Amino acid sequence: MRREAPVRFDERRETWDVFRYEDVNRVLKDHDAFTANRSLEDGESSGNREEGMPMLQTMITTDPPEQIRLREFVNERFQPGSIREYQPRVKELTKDLLDDLEDEEQFDFADEFAAPLPVIVIAELLGIPADRRDQFKEWSDALVARPADDTQAEMQRVQQERHQAQQEMGGYFAKLLAERQGGADDDLITLAANTEGLSRGEKIGFCMLLLLAGNITTTNLLTNAIWSLEEQELTDAVRTGEINHNQAIEEVLRYRSPIQSLKRIAVADVELNGRHIQAGDVVTLWLGAANRDSETFDSPEEFRPERKPNRHIAFGTGVHFCLGAHLARMEADVALKQLLDRFERLDADLSDIRPLSGLYGLESLPCEVSGNASPAK
Ligand code: HEM
Repeated sequence: MRREAPVRFDERRETWDVFRYEDVNRVLKDHDAFTANRSLEDGESSGNREEGMPMLQTMITTDPPEQIRLREFVNERFQPGSIREYQPRVKELTKDLLDDLEDEEQFDFADEFAAPLPVIVIAELLGIPADRRDQFKEWSDALVARPADDTQAEMQRVQQERHQAQQEMGGYFAKLLAERQGGADDDLITLAANTEGLSRGEKIGFCMLLLLAGNITTTNLLTNAIWSLEEQELTDAVRTGEINHNQAIEEVLRYRSPIQSLKRIAVADVELNGRHIQAGDVVTLWLGAANRDSETFDSPEEFRPERKPNRHIAFGTGVHFCLGAHLARMEADVALKQLLDRFERLDADLSDIRPLSGLYGLESLPCEVSGNASPAK
């Protein structure tokens, strides 16, 4: 598609598809011509909106200057300096999770490690009491659940559960936000509660966005990392430090980007690579394809952790560049290091790979481990 139809209109899905790195970058950076506001998208083609469900306005679905107002109060907390301060706590949380797996010789890496870790970390940053974390995980799973099949009954069931989770979680955040008004703790709910210029709905939307944006994506990064390293037989090279694990993580982000596509809507008529996009048209930007564009990456179909520079756009670019990018990288770094320190041997079973639908990741990744005598520091 990059070569033959780099910008094409798909009649069935009623969207333009953009595949080349340069074009995807251009659209993401041009927020004047392409809005992130999905409420401008009509009817069917919206994968993010449901009937009867009001869309909470958050930074991810607004454009500057609104988007800046909704983001700037929290920006500092996700900069590298702050993320370094969280690192010791993330190490502890990771260690606790590995301790729970201590006696196991086999476990599902996706389900028992990669899924809970990001939820625990974001719950901690938000300041969710530990005894509510299971409930929190249930809500977050329900919010991102997809129907198991395309029958009406199944779609309705998923939609109802999602709606209920959204209501319950919204109510729960509203209560915590009210309780923490005037408080001095340094968690993110307290920060939002005491930020002026944000409505109650915007504060609730912010809390929900943080939970949703960072969980499955980071889970998939961790799962895709073990999947890729095992597939390429590079796990031991990362364990010994022969391969730098930060670079390995960057290559996983490029090669198996957890988010494969983003959407924008044209607000003006625009020429893109010789095609005429009209105001109101939906544009799907294929990050996954851009990250394998041979104009930008040498041998893009090869997994090469030594790749440097690695200018992937797995975290997007422009004003919406992922708020949690440094956090996700730090979590992946801590997780990979501690996991490989803890288990002398880790074998993933790649014989029955079942991809998730919608996001790039795996439903499960059974692993066999041994030599877990040396607890991670
Ligand atoms: C590997 C993990 C992650 C990936 C691949 C990822 C990817 C992305 C991408 C592609 C965007 C751009 C969306 C757009 O332009 O429409 C984005 C935005 C965002 N991400 Fe992440 N993300 C990850 C982890 C996280 C984490 C851990 C958090 C938690 C704080 C987070 C919070 C956000 C937020 C709040 C935005 C919206 C930023 C804005 O609109 O200004 N992400 N992410």
